This record gives sequence, structure tokens and C-alpha cells, in this order.
Amino acid sequence: MGRVRDWLRLALVSTACLAAFAGIVQTAAAESNGLAPTPPMGWNDWYSSYCNVNAQLVELTAQEMVNNGMKAAGYDYVNIDDCWMSPSRDAAGNLVPDPTRFPNGIATVAAYVHGLGMKLGIYEDAGTTTCAHFPGSYGHEAQDAATFAAWGVDYVKYDRCNIPYGDFPGESQQQVQQTLYTRMSNALKATGRPIVFSMCNPDPGDDPWLWGAPISNLWRTTTDIEDDFGSMLGNFEGTVGLYRDAGPGAWNDPDLLQIGNGGSSLLEYTSEFSLWAEMAAPLIASTNIGTLNAAERAIYENPNVIAVDQDPLGQPGVPIARADGLWVMTKNLSDGSRAVVLFNSNNAAATIATTATAVGLPGRRLYSVHNLWTNAVTETGGGITAFVPGHGVAMFRVSVESNRRAMKLTPHTVLSLNAADPQVDAGQSTTLYETLTNNGVSGVKRVALSLSAWPGWQVKPLGRPRIPLLAAGQRFTVSYRITAPASGPPLAMSIFSGAASFDPPDGRHTSSARLGELVSAPVGSPLATADKTTHPASFGASGRGLAISSRGVGVYNPPFGAAPTDSYAAIYRPGGAGRSSSAEATVTTDPAAGPQGGAGLIERDRMTAGKHSPAAVVLYVSGNATIVMAWNASGGADVDQHTAVPSVTVAAPVGLRLVRRGHVYAGYYSTDRGKTWNPVATETVAASASAGRQDVGVFHASGLSTWTTTASFTNLRVR
Ligand code: GLA
Repeated sequence: MGRVRDWLRLALVSTACLAAFAGIVQTAAAESNGLAPTPPMGWNDWYSSYCNVNAQLVELTAQEMVNNGMKAAGYDYVNIDDCWMSPSRDAAGNLVPDPTRFPNGIATVAAYVHGLGMKLGIYEDAGTTTCAHFPGSYGHEAQDAATFAAWGVDYVKYDRCNIPYGDFPGESQQQVQQTLYTRMSNALKATGRPIVFSMCNPDPGDDPWLWGAPISNLWRTTTDIEDDFGSMLGNFEGTVGLYRDAGPGAWNDPDLLQIGNGGSSLLEYTSEFSLWAEMAAPLIASTNIGTLNAAERAIYENPNVIAVDQDPLGQPGVPIARADGLWVMTKNLSDGSRAVVLFNSNNAAATIATTATAVGLPGRRLYSVHNLWTNAVTETGGGITAFVPGHGVAMFRVSVESNRRAMKLTPHTVLSLNAADPQVDAGQSTTLYETLTNNGVSGVKRVALSLSAWPGWQVKPLGRPRIPLLAAGQRFTVSYRITAPASGPPLAMSIFSGAASFDPPDGRHTSSARLGELVSAPVGSPLATADKTTHPASFGASGRGLAISSRGVGVYNPPFGAAPTDSYAAIYRPGGAGRSSSAEATVTTDPAAGPQGGAGLIERDRMTAGKHSPAAVVLYVSGNATIVMAWNASGGADVDQHTAVPSVTVAAPVGLRLVRRGHVYAGYYSTDRGKTWNPVATETVAASASAGRQDVGVFHASGLSTWTTTASFTNLRVR
């Protein structure tokens, strides 16, 4: 079967390649219900209300979307997620809305929503029960589809929890899903009512993008999103490569928009919105619409970015560069222009550059560059550049221009900062470069650059900061020698602000740029550092404080049979743990993603050991805010067991203590600054992984190989 699937995948991919190459839009394979010619837009209650959804919330939200301009901006689906049902069907086997939360049933809510010119979505599941354990549609597909149609439902999200795979002996999970999702797709079509069909089956191996198009209008590509940058990045990275598989009527769905839920910065929300639009993803807000502030609403309602998402050509953006976390994407638009996203997935600001021909435009003398977030329109001879803050985007619509219009535009200039070394030790120096680039076809005059630093820094310009003319296509760079303050916290970010002023043809302009420089207080004896990630980590030690800035997937085996990881950074006492010893530290900040990312204590024979030297024990606060202990029980190459304290989530500071008696390790945690210690687990590590003295210390893994975060600790004590 594996081979058949591989063949099918190859056939689908190569057909899609040809289609993309020939500039053909993939309509042929799309769901034949004719719906969702552009990605659906709307709202879904899940991430604001979870199982507290009710009729009043849905109706109120619809009304708010009319009042706040979202409906006019294109958001027309109002979607109910899980938990709208009663725990059982009625005597005739019909689904029953929860009588308290939907006292007048779903049809009344649908009528209300329709009265506002909007449409209603609902949630069901292909299994025996939904993910929240309400009745599933398994064996009731036609009956439930008819019920939805009778109620006036316009959109069905269909989940994959609790599918009785045992009823399909010898079939793969994917095959069973194909059967069950096709069943519901046909049942919805048979009702005669136009109903968007949204598949929610993003588990590894389901690969709905390979088979979803003929039966559904959209399919989830990635796991449930969370409101943090790491999760957003993970879902973006898991979807962006699937651009060949989506098109009008059939969309990749990287999950619901989080803008407004409070877990990310405005900059990060702006990135989420831009990336989703560039991928032609559904724009479905999953937040409390009534409490959105003006800035969050402005993201949801940006007409330029919405137009990119909703472009009738329906071609998802294509990533054309992604070196070192700096992404360039281009999306072919129906008027011949290109939507270009320059996305910086790193923490530090960086210059990202591409050209008009690289993004797919024909070679011409002049182009206009419409910045879709600032609305500025500039001219370029071909260069497209932005200095993009960490976690941020620049998004442009680039068009071939007739000379006459473009000559009236101001040149596309960019001010950028770049440090020779993004990190210096306290008291040490590096060089910082400030550059103004003129991508335009006309010169800019009277150019003056300046740089300011935070207190404690010394800044010495190494050249003249002014020139009378910066010609078309040229760059002007001023170098500075910058010297960090002599002392400070373990790891601290300082901000440099650059400013440029110049006279383009149409009057005086200024621009500014900000760059962070990391200052570390070096880690010295008796402590040592270890970096087992794929990207350089930074370490600092000052007073009782320690800090580690790193990536790293983590220490124990990832789920779903993925390759083992041993990817973290540590500050430790070489040979500090004897056979009878105890280590303690307080985690004071711990930004990380998922159950394997986190910060805590680690103990193993050799901290810097290669892949096949077994790790012993970790005790840490995970990216999910749980306390996890993981250990090597088998003596194999990896930490192979883990346990989390059930039903407990914690917020820093969290004290951790690991007590070793020979091969037995006991973990404890404290959330009251060490007054009480709660047990985590007492576990036996394989003798081969806990024979003699061990290295012991604190470690950090961000949980993602593409995301750097900084964890800090105090009071590392080894006895
Ligand atoms: C799954 C889905 C989510 C949401 C919940 C509801 O986790 O992936 O999008 O619908 O179920 O229980």
C-alpha cells in the first residue's frame, strides 16, 4: 500500500507542478460543489470559548462583525465549533443541540445570522464521538447532513477524533478517513444545499492535501495552533510547502487566526495575518470579537492584505528563499502583479532582499512597490529590500509600471543595521554597520545617517555620516565601533537606533531602524557550557543568575515515531553529581514551545557527548507549562521515558530539585520559592547511563529547531 500511496503522491505532485509551471489554476480537481472559489473568511468560537459556545455568543459575535466592519471586509462565516450538542441523540437518532446553550435550536441561530447577510458554520466528527466526546456522525452521515441542511447550515467542519479504525481491518488510517470523509462530502451534496466542507484531519500520515481536493473545500494541514510565535511558525512551516496542492475551491488550512487572544505581539499577529494571506489560507478569526482593540481590528481589516488572500487567481504564494530563517515568498495575482512577503522568523532584525525578476515579474526598467501595511508606494528599478524586525514581515505588492507614473514616486529606499557579531561579552567591542540602500531609478540628495545607543555603550563612527547624493541603485554605509558596558545581567539585549534623512525628488524624508545587540556576562569556572543545537546558543552568568538563549527540539523522543532528538544547550558543573547528590535551580523565565521544549535540570555522564552516548535524566518546565521528568530507562542512546505532573500547570519562577541515589533519581518542584517541595517522580535510570560521577546543570531547548528563545535561572546549587 505504501508504494501505491507514494506513486499517487508523485502523480499528484507532478501534475500540480506542471499546472503551476504553465500558470494554470488547479480548478479541475477541486470539490465540485462550486463553493469557496476564494479562501473562506469568518469567525470560529473555539479559541475564545472552547466548550462554552452558546447561541447568544454566536449571534452577538455576528452582530459585532457587522458593527465593527469585519463583515464588510469579507468575513461572512460565523462558525460554531465542538460542544454545541447534547450528550446523546434523540430516539430517532437525530443530533440534539444542547438545550441550555442553544435553547431555540440551531435553525434560529442560522436564521439570525442569515438575517445579517452572513452564513452559519457547524462542527461534527467522522468518528463515533467528537474530540470533546459529543455524538459523532459515524453511521449517521446522511441523517446528520440532512439535519444540517434543514437547519440552514452553510459550512461543516468535520473532525477526526474517535474514528473506529478497527471496523476497517487491514486499512490504513488515511484510507479509512478517505472513506468516511467522502461519505460526508457526498451526504452534504445530496442535501442540495450549498455547504462548504472543511476537513479537520491533520495528524501525521493523514496528508489530506494529497486527496482532499475532490471532496472538500479546505483541509487542515497542521496540528491545533496556539497563540504563540513558535506554534504559528510551526503551522506556517508545515503548510507553506504545500502551495501546489491548493487552489480555488480547495484550500490548505493552517488553522484559525489567533489575533486578539493576547499571547503574541502585534508584530507577530501582523506576520500571522500576512503569512496566512500569502498562503491563500482561510482567514477565520478565533477570538473574542467584542474585545478586539483598534490595532487588532486594523490587522483583520487591512484591505490590501485581504485582497492578496482573496485574489481570484487563487494561487498560494511560493517560498523562493528561506535561508537562515529569512523567508521570501511570492504570490501570483490576477492583475499580473506579485504579492511579496519578506518574513524574518528569527529574533534579531535582518535585511531581506529580493528582486522583481526573482519574484516572477518580467524584466523591466521600472516597478512600483506598494507596502501593504504602511500604504507607501515607491518606485524601484528591480531591488526589493526591507529591514525586517525579528518575528516580523514586510509585505509588498510589486507591479510593472509605466515610466510616467513611477517617475513621480519616491525611490524605494531602506535603512538597515547589521552587527559584525550579534553578541558581545560585557566590556567588549564589535562593529556595527548602518546602510541606506537606494533601489530606485532616481538619486536621493543630502543623505545623513546617525546612530544612538542605550546608556553605558560607547559608539565611535569610523567614517563620515553624510553624502551629498546617493545615486540610483547605490548603497551608503557608515561603520561604528560599539563597546558594551563593562558589567550587567547574564544575557541582556540592548537596542541601537539608526536614523537617516535624505531628499528624494519629492521632499525631505526620514527613516529609522532598530537592532538588538546581545551582551553576555561570560560563564566562567567552575561552570562550563554545552551547545547541542544546530544554531549557535548564547550563555551568560552574573551573580546568582544564569541565562541560555538557544533553539533545540529537546531531550526526549518526539511523538509519532519521529527521529530521536538530543538537541539543547546547557550550563553545567563538569562531574558535579556524585552517586549520592542533589541539584537544584529556579527557572525564572521559560519561553518554549510544546511538551519537549523547556528549561530545567539535566544530568548525564558527559554533557557534550555525541548522539550515541545516553543522556540520563531531565527535570524541566515544558513549553506547555507542565513539569516533566524524562529519563533513560533502557540504557539505549536516548532518553526514552517521560512523565508529566498531571493536571498541574505552572508559571515561573519554579524551583526544581533532582536527588540522585545511585541509579535512582527523584524529582521535585516548588512554586512557592522553596517553602514546599512537591514530588514529580522517582525513577531508575539504566545502570549504563548512571554509573559514576555525572555532569549536572541547567538546560534549555526552545522546542523548535527554527526558533531561539532565552531561558533564565537562579541559584543553581549542586551538593
Ligand atoms: C480538534 C480540532 C480543533 C477543535 C477541537 C474541538 O482538536 O483540531 O480545531 O475543533 O478538536 O474539540
